[in-house]
Amino acid sequence: MSISYKDIEENAQRELKETNSIQELEILRVKYLGRKGIIAQEISKIPTLAFSERSIAGQQLNELKRKLNDLIEARRPLLIEKTPQQKHSRIDITLPGVERPLGSQHPIINTMNQICGIFVSLGFQLYEGPEVETEYHNFQALNIALEHPSRDAFDTFYLAQESRYNIFNDKLENNSHINISNKLLLRSHTSPGQIRVMQQIQPPVAAVVPGRVYRPDATDASHSCMFHQVEGFLVDSDIRFSDLKGILESFAKQMFGPQIKMRFRPHYFPFTEPSAEVDISCIICGSAKTDKTPDKPCSVCKGKGWLEILGCGMIHPNVFKNVGYDHKKYTGFAFGMGVERIAMLKHGIDDIRIFFENDLKFLKQF
Ligand code: DAH
Repeated sequence: MSISYKDIEENAQRELKETNSIQELEILRVKYLGRKGIIAQEISKIPTLAFSERSIAGQQLNELKRKLNDLIEARRPLLIEKTPQQKHSRIDITLPGVERPLGSQHPIINTMNQICGIFVSLGFQLYEGPEVETEYHNFQALNIALEHPSRDAFDTFYLAQESRYNIFNDKLENNSHINISNKLLLRSHTSPGQIRVMQQIQPPVAAVVPGRVYRPDATDASHSCMFHQVEGFLVDSDIRFSDLKGILESFAKQMFGPQIKMRFRPHYFPFTEPSAEVDISCIICGSAKTDKTPDKPCSVCKGKGWLEILGCGMIHPNVFKNVGYDHKKYTGFAFGMGVERIAMLKHGIDDIRIFFENDLKFLKQF
């Protein structure tokens, strides 16, 4: 007695449920869908059917074949052997993934890039120097004598070991007039960047050297033992103080706005002569609160009306001598500024420590 298509389907479904491995599934597939399988046998019987039943039988068998195939393939992934790890894994792959938020540029790096970008647009080239410096580059070559009291202004972290190797590829032997010290330290300013560039490049040269500097200061709202500076300098024949003023004015207006006024106050730096400190008119009150409202002084300039932003001057001839430049032929100017100070002024921040606390509530604002 021949079996009905419905019975074939029910048998197949029952047997399918009982399969426990890919091998058993394959045996079942061959049994029903193989070349000599049950479906093929039924198809071969079609010509023996009454003429009127043949086409219906053909359709039903094709349908059954497709259905069984779908059922078998649906079971296959359930039987694929799991690794021990997968067997015990309770990962729910339907859960949303872990979000990895994009960071943003740190306000100090951003300000440093902005400062350097302005000078690069004025034709300065960008250089970097090492954070571990020799005493020679940090002080002596910059005309800061070992015993000079100005050394106190650049309080320094010394490293225990002297430079045993010529790791900085210096031409120290050219400086025989100086008692050279190869003691290592964490640079206390970026001015040694001037020396490194001048040792390698002959004038005309215009460069900016940004980077981290270190001083053993007690940390408070305006001091950090690590901070950032941008050093800049330009050397050529016939460079004057007026060139320095023009370049710095262009910088200050691009950085703080076209309404900014500048003033140069005489100062002393060993590596420049004459030297000056530069103030800009207060970016908050625009010097407006200076005299007019003494009872309510501006919180940024404290009623002074001016904000100090950098030190500068004409490069001292001794610096030129130390790097082998002809000081009779060339003149030049140099300047150095603190990046934190500029970022604080620009963003109205009153505590330097906040830059280095990695507090996302602060950092996300930039
Ligand atoms: N190096 C100085 C400091 O750290 C800043 C400075 C002042 C740099 C005057 C200069 C300069 O190049 O001409 O305080």
